[in-house]
Amino acid sequence: MTNNLVWHHATVRREDRRRLNGHGSAVLWFTGLSGAGKSTLAHGVEEKLHEQGCVTYVLDGDNVRHGLCGDLGFSEEDRSENARRVGEVAKLFVDAGVIILTAFISPFAADRQRVRGLVMPNDFLEIYCRCPVEVCETRDVKGHYERARTGEIKEFTGISAPYEEPLNPELVVDTDRLSLEESVDRVLALLRERAIIDLSRSPASTSSTPRPRAPVGTDGDEP
Ligand code: ADX
Repeated sequence: MTNNLVWHHATVRREDRRRLNGHGSAVLWFTGLSGAGKSTLAHGVEEKLHEQGCVTYVLDGDNVRHGLCGDLGFSEEDRSENARRVGEVAKLFVDAGVIILTAFISPFAADRQRVRGLVMPNDFLEIYCRCPVEVCETRDVKGHYERARTGEIKEFTGISAPYEEPLNPELVVDTDRLSLEESVDRVLALLRERAIIDLSRSPASTSSTPRPRAPVGTDGDEP
């Protein structure tokens, strides 16, 4: 498929973008069960980073499946392809100097590992939003667990399809025990530790009006 193609090297490089933005780039790969709070946490982290003038973007499973991955279902093959496409997009964002936050169940360790392999070793931060399935099921924000229990939704992760826990993630966030604020702080601490950001710098002059937020694990269903 890649025959007769020659890579065209950019003259504006990643280091140039880092200098311009005043921070580094990386993939923050949030993984966990549906309802574990991946999207809520990713958006919470993005909000804080944005306030500090960082260039960010969130790719969210439910949203991406309306477009880029609109042709994919929830078979093992489709979930792998979902992770592959998102991984490739995330890689481009990293090269573009953006802190890219992805919120996908991404239940298979091999798929997450493959995405890790797409970028430089320090560019991939796997963040496990850990939450017992019973808690996710109680939250059942989208009503999916109930429909999975009745068999209306097949191959539902945690009920009738597997979730392989990360063995060695960069960060585990227990979203059933931590508040959203505490969870956000842990992710920001990781970014500082990795020298991706330096939050001691002053917020951007373009202050954004904070929007109302839901607690962790209550990610909404907006298209
Ligand atoms: S992944 O497994 O391929 O990574 P992804 O994160 O894109 O999944 O999409 C998960 C979302 O799709 C869930 O939050 C839920 O709203 C919805 N969904 C619909 N059917 C299923 C299913 N069978 N298993 C898991 N999630 C499903």
